[in-house]
Amino acid sequence: KQDHNQLIIDAGQKQFGAVTCSSCGMVYSIDNPEDTFQHTQFHQRFVDSIKFVGWKKERVVSEFWDGKILLVLPDDPKYAVKKAEEVRQVADSELGFQQVTLSSPSQAKTYLFVNTDRMVVGCLVAEHIRQAYRVLEQQDQHKDMSKEDFMERHRAWCCSTSPEPALCGISRIWVFSLARRQSIATRMLDTVRSTFIFGSHLSKTEIAFSDPTPDGKLFASNYCNT
Ligand code: ACO
Ligand code: ZN
Repeated sequence: KQDHNQLIIDAGQKQFGAVTCSSCGMVYSIDNPEDTFQHTQFHQRFVDSIKFVGWKKERVVSEFWDGKILLVLPDDPKYAVKKAEEVRQVADSELGFQQVTLSSPSQAKTYLFVNTDRMVVGCLVAEHIRQAYRVLEQQDQHKDMSKEDFMERHRAWCCSTSPEPALCGISRIWVFSLARRQSIATRMLDTVRSTFIFGSHLSKTEIAFSDPTPDGKLFASNYCNT
């Protein structure tokens, strides 16, 4: 686990002197002016995007010792919809999505995890769907493959050809890099299951992930098996 209050020197990297910014999580080389410039560019925008000032009306759907989960709906006040959009863009740019439109923006539900430092460290977009295609397990395990290679080869996942019923599609799930492995994604999904359809609790099989990344797939297979 990374120490949040410290810059991490990674001497093993190609670029000597790579550090991880403890507020925006960007890894860059302090010796490289272009890198440093890119960081400056990215940093403020990122920090502003995830900053949460508090709203007059908040739809709190879960509360924890280290934060709370807010639900934002398309017809909510502009400040709420705008913040949800801002965080979704941060997530999208990290996921490499460009201008991906939601399948039904008027019905998308956005869940935001706000931590006690008033930062939105988690974002999940859920949409109503009727069916999904199961991602098939790969034959070989690719244990030695780098993440980039894995990403390259698995951009198109092998899916079954017969659709299965599902009710809730997760089109985005993102957790701030410095807040991962603290079960934030797990808690957001548990909250989706109990609040997505009023008065009912969705089972894990009624939820489907769209186009998962390697991280997303590791998380999803763990979540669905427990
Ligand atoms: N590698 C291996 N196992 C993992 C990983 C990983 N990177 N991430 C989660 N898991 C498994 C672990 O078993 C973990 O339990 P543990 O920490 O006790 O070992 C369990 O899943 C639960 O993980 P959480 O802590 O709840 O997950 P987290 O809050 O870290 O968020 C997420 C996971 C959302 C995938 C995060 O890594 C992320 O934002 N990644 C970048 C964006 C991304 O790829 N999102 C998924 C896109 S797919 C889509 O949007 C439909
Ligand atoms: Zn930074």
